[in-house]
Amino acid sequence: MPQASPTRPSYVIDEMISAKSIAARVEELAREITRHFEGTDKLVVVGLLRGSFVFIADLVRELDLPVEVDFLEASSYGDRMESAREVRILKDLTGEISGRDVLVVEDIVDTGFTLSHVIRMLRARGPSRLEICALLDKPSRREVDIKAGWTGFVIPDEFVVGYGIDYAQRNRNLPHIGKVRFPE
Ligand code: PRP
Repeated sequence: MPQASPTRPSYVIDEMISAKSIAARVEELAREITRHFEGTDKLVVVGLLRGSFVFIADLVRELDLPVEVDFLEASSYGDRMESAREVRILKDLTGEISGRDVLVVEDIVDTGFTLSHVIRMLRARGPSRLEICALLDKPSRREVDIKAGWTGFVIPDEFVVGYGIDYAQRNRNLPHIGKVRFPE
């Protein structure tokens, strides 16, 4: 699928993880998370915008728990392919998390800057439990020591798009995860 924009060279997207594999893995993750938080009546599932919006929508529908959903928008990449290593909070949570069980849902952990910044900020608010579920993990890119309690897929160092993840704000609506390739 060649993609082009006035400012970007055209690129193609090769499928890396099918929609079917994602759905199966989301079900497994939800089962484990349900077991972990069994008995809670105060779970807040926090999606990191914008990349996690598809994942969180699928994940919460598979959780057999009473949940509240809240969102936080952090940005470190902007429209670039490289992390700026400086995380900006563009939108904070709407609700309080003090004394609550919190599950942070992230689309991808790359350098780890975004997640570690967000976790530090949320921990300071005194949640009773604070856990992380990330769909994708690129451990080879890690610069900050942070690990999700649940990870969907460990992937190599490829630039990926789809299932909520963008390249310069495009391709978030692909149903699968694809890798971006620039033909010679
Ligand atoms: C992307 C992605 C993660 C973060 C991971 O967000 O959604 O939140 O980068 O990178 P890191 O581990 O190197 O910090 P981005 O800043 O592109 O915003 P978006 O979610 O709105 O696409």
